[in-house]
Amino acid sequence: MIDRGDLNGKILFDDGEHQFIWLGADSDFRRGVVQTMQYLIVDKGRGWLLDPGGVHLFSRVVASASRYIPMDRIEGIFFSHQDPDVSSGIALWLGVTPAKIYISELWLRFLPHFGIVDGSRVTSIEGLGKGLGLGSGARLSFVPSHFMHSPGAFSLYDERAKILFSGDIGAAVFPDGQEELFIDDFRAALPHLEGFHKRFIASNVVAKRWSEIVGRLEPAMIAPQHGGVYRGQAAKDFLSWLSGLRCGVDLVDELYKS
Ligand SMILES: [Fe+2]
Ligand SMILES: [Fe+2]
Repeated sequence: MIDRGDLNGKILFDDGEHQFIWLGADSDFRRGVVQTMQYLIVDKGRGWLLDPGGVHLFSRVVASASRYIPMDRIEGIFFSHQDPDVSSGIALWLGVTPAKIYISELWLRFLPHFGIVDGSRVTSIEGLGKGLGLGSGARLSFVPSHFMHSPGAFSLYDERAKILFSGDIGAAVFPDGQEELFIDDFRAALPHLEGFHKRFIASNVVAKRWSEIVGRLEPAMIAPQHGGVYRGQAAKDFLSWLSGLRCGVDLVDELYKS
C-alpha cells in the first residue's frame, strides 16, 4: 500500500546536487484508475521530466513537480514512446516550460496530432547518440527499447542515481487498494504484470536483448511508467524473467487460434 504521505511524491535518489524523484499518484488512484507514474530528475537546479503524461494529469503533475523545481527550470522532457498516456500533454508542457522534447525519430511527425507543437523544440533521440551530460557531470543514457512495445522506444538510464526509467517495460497493474510504490518481491508482483508483457512485447528476441543490455548497467532500481519501482533483487529477478519470456509473435498460434 502506498503511504498517503507519499502521494505528493518521493525522492528515490539524492546526493546533494542530483535527485531522482517519483512525482506521486492521484489521490483517487484507489477508485479504479490505472496508476501512471511520472518522474523528475533535478540536476544542479535544472530539471528533466520523464513521461509526464496526458492532458488529464497535467495540473497534478505540474503541482507535484513545482514542489521540487520551478517550471522555467525544466530543460528536457523525455518521452519513452508515442502513446497518449506518455505524450498527449505535449502542447501544455511546451507552454509552461522552456524544455526541449526528446523522443524517437519515428514519432516526430505524429506529435502535432496532440496539439500545436513547435517542431524546433522537438529533438530525435537517435540524433543525439547514446546519451547526454548534465550540469553536475551526471549522465543520462538512452537505452534502445524498440518493439518493447512501441517500434520506436527508449528507456533512460540515470547513471548517477543508478535508476533506469523503463517506460512501459515492467508495467504492472495492481488491484485497487493493493498499489505499491516499490516492488521488492518479484514473484508476488508477477501476476499483475505477466499478461501485459506477454501481449505487448513483440517477441523474445527483443525482450532478451533489452534484458541483457539493462543487466550490464546493473541498475539499483527499474522505474516503469505504471505499477511499482523494482529495487534490489526484484530488479534482477524481473530482468531474468523477461529475458526468457515468450511473448508477442512467439505466441501467434494462441492469438490466432479459431
Ligand atoms: Fe505504451
Ligand atoms: Fe504506458
